[in-house]
Amino acid sequence: MKKKSSFSGQIGFVLAAAGSAVGVGNLWRFPYLVAKDGGGLFLIIYIVLVLTFGFTLLTTDIAIGRKTGQSAIAAYETMRPGWKKLGILTFCVPMLIMTYYAVIGGWILKYFTVYLTGDFAAAAKDDYFTDFITDPSSVWFGLIFMLLTGFIVYNGVEGGIERCSKFVMPILLVLVVGIAIFSLTLRSGDESGAVRTGLDGLKVYLMPDMSGLTLSRFLQITLDAMSQLFFSLSVSMGIMITYGSYVQKEVDLNKSVAQIEIVDTGVAILAGMMIIPAIFVFSGIDGMSAGPSLMFVALPKTFYTMGKAGYVIGLVFFLLTAFAALTSCISVLEAITANCMEVFHTERKKTTGVLTIIYLIATAVIALGYSVFYVEVKLPNGSTGQLLDIMDYISNSFLMPLISVFSTILVGWIVGPKWIAEEMEHPNGKFSRKHLYNIMIKYVAPFIMVILFLQSTGLLDR
Ligand code: PHE
Repeated sequence: MKKKSSFSGQIGFVLAAAGSAVGVGNLWRFPYLVAKDGGGLFLIIYIVLVLTFGFTLLTTDIAIGRKTGQSAIAAYETMRPGWKKLGILTFCVPMLIMTYYAVIGGWILKYFTVYLTGDFAAAAKDDYFTDFITDPSSVWFGLIFMLLTGFIVYNGVEGGIERCSKFVMPILLVLVVGIAIFSLTLRSGDESGAVRTGLDGLKVYLMPDMSGLTLSRFLQITLDAMSQLFFSLSVSMGIMITYGSYVQKEVDLNKSVAQIEIVDTGVAILAGMMIIPAIFVFSGIDGMSAGPSLMFVALPKTFYTMGKAGYVIGLVFFLLTAFAALTSCISVLEAITANCMEVFHTERKKTTGVLTIIYLIATAVIALGYSVFYVEVKLPNGSTGQLLDIMDYISNSFLMPLISVFSTILVGWIVGPKWIAEEMEHPNGKFSRKHLYNIMIKYVAPFIMVILFLQSTGLLDR
């Protein structure tokens, strides 16, 4: 039998997994949620959840991967023969996400090139973003991003994914820290003489805002934090199972899980430190929005107001965002590739080649969802959206919570937490948070995941 591909060691694995985890979720969703959900209050709740839920789900996925040496479809079947269906359901998540992730990557690429060519004034105009995505030629950026992703995955686990993550992640970390520090030094004054500084912005970010805190608001914040958390950690979509299957037996999974949690949460918190003070000083915190409009409308305006320094910061910002999106995008394609290779017994290069062609087409279709294939659909959670939002809704709001319900039941009650513990105890016999894990996976997680599922599908509100 051919030797299975693997990461070269712990560092390679942690950087690749952290590369998957750190993505646009950290940069455009986390800071927004902090601003919306009471600043430090959200931060505290989020950190507690990372150490409990995040830890539990991440441990589960990675241990399943390494123990079975397989990706989701085959791995769940190995765990319990009747559970292949859960594997197939899990496989659907990256399959759907892949249709639109390169589209978002393409938007980032576009802004990076706009800054590179020096036209950052144009990017600050009101309708710039809408004009761009509604123009069919915007498709090219998504296609380039998709090709790049395909190329890296084509080169294999160590030669492609690990090599790319080892190059990109350290740069990304340095840039995030650098901009966060710079953000704190910002200041602006208006005609009335009022001065706003980055440090005031930091206070807004970190101080827990308890005003008007009711039980229902507290629950809302907790659910926001929870859904952010597992999107951010790339769990319950088979990605961490696939990456786990490439980890050699001598690597300490306890340490690896902790390091991935730290990098992902660290970058999210630093992203807040770079974005919130900048928006606070130059646009006022009311200008804080989520998703594309934060990244492609509010921030370019803020950078423009900052003048020359804003130009440099903007350029660096879009570079690091492109890096973050790229390492996430390759993890999505890798999860699909690995499952296909196992199910169809095909080899990597051919599999990646075929998948890249399929997803080039999908990327084009989804990108054209704002022009040629424009639709406007009302989603069950009350929002309206185009093709991209439909894919996002099905994968993240519907499938991911559903999969975590079933996978926690499978591990907690059918296979038993001991099955995971054995893998975590290898090779040094220490599974430091074992008791916490047992309680979480059996009693807390399945129950809370049902609530999260009902909430994110909008069923709870009715
Ligand atoms: N974890 C990534 C983020 O925080 C998102 C992601 C989702 C990555 C799905 C891969 C797959 O943005």
